[in-house]
Amino acid sequence: MDRFVKNFIIVSIVYLGISAFVGVAMLWDQSLMSLKFVHSHLNMLGWVSMMIYGVGYHILPKFAGKPLKYPKIGELQFWVANIGLIGMLLFYTMNVYNPSQMNVNATVLFGGMEVFSIILFFYNMLATLLPKPATV
Ligand code: HEM
Ligand code: HEM
Repeated sequence: MDRFVKNFIIVSIVYLGISAFVGVAMLWDQSLMSLKFVHSHLNMLGWVSMMIYGVGYHILPKFAGKPLKYPKIGELQFWVANIGLIGMLLFYTMNVYNPSQMNVNATVLFGGMEVFSIILFFYNMLATLLPKPATV
């Protein structure tokens, strides 16, 4: 298993733990419902998407009988997806408690980074799965 594959799976479980903690905190103190976006995206982009990236990078090329075309892009995607997610949620939270245009801009910037990470996955997967095997 590639290192970045294992790393995706490990961080996804960490995000699940943190988001479950935030979820229970939101039930405990309704004022924390302003962090619903943080809870839902820790889950959807952290837990669900990163688990799918990890399992997908490992298993989908095997289903197609080919190696992953660009493992280096997979490694890069790991960092871009994690920095994008953490930055987006950090500045979103800062903006909830201290609204400013700077915090909004930073949230959007890191959100854009997250979108870029999705494009990297999309490209790498299609470049691996779509080409037809050479016929002899
Ligand atoms: C200990 C586990 C969890 C707790 C205590 C919890 C708690 C909550 C709470 C209190 C809300 C706000 C509901 C409201 O708007 O009234 C919420 C929303 C949400 N949760 Fe969780 N949650 C948990 C696990 C999960 C998991 C595992 C996922 C996804 C895989 C998830 C996905 C979401 C999403 C997407 C929303 C937003 C729903 C919406 O806005 O309609 N949650 N959760
Ligand atoms: C770059 C990636 C993403 C960005 C920038 C983003 C941004 C947003 C924004 C701005 C909202 C509205 C929040 C509000 O009403 O305050 C939202 C809601 C939501 N998004 Fe995303 N999203 C992203 C990816 C995803 C993905 C991949 C999923 C699911 C797999 C998802 C699931 C949801 C859900 C369930 C809600 C409604 C719950 C909530 O209000 O928190 N998002 N998203």
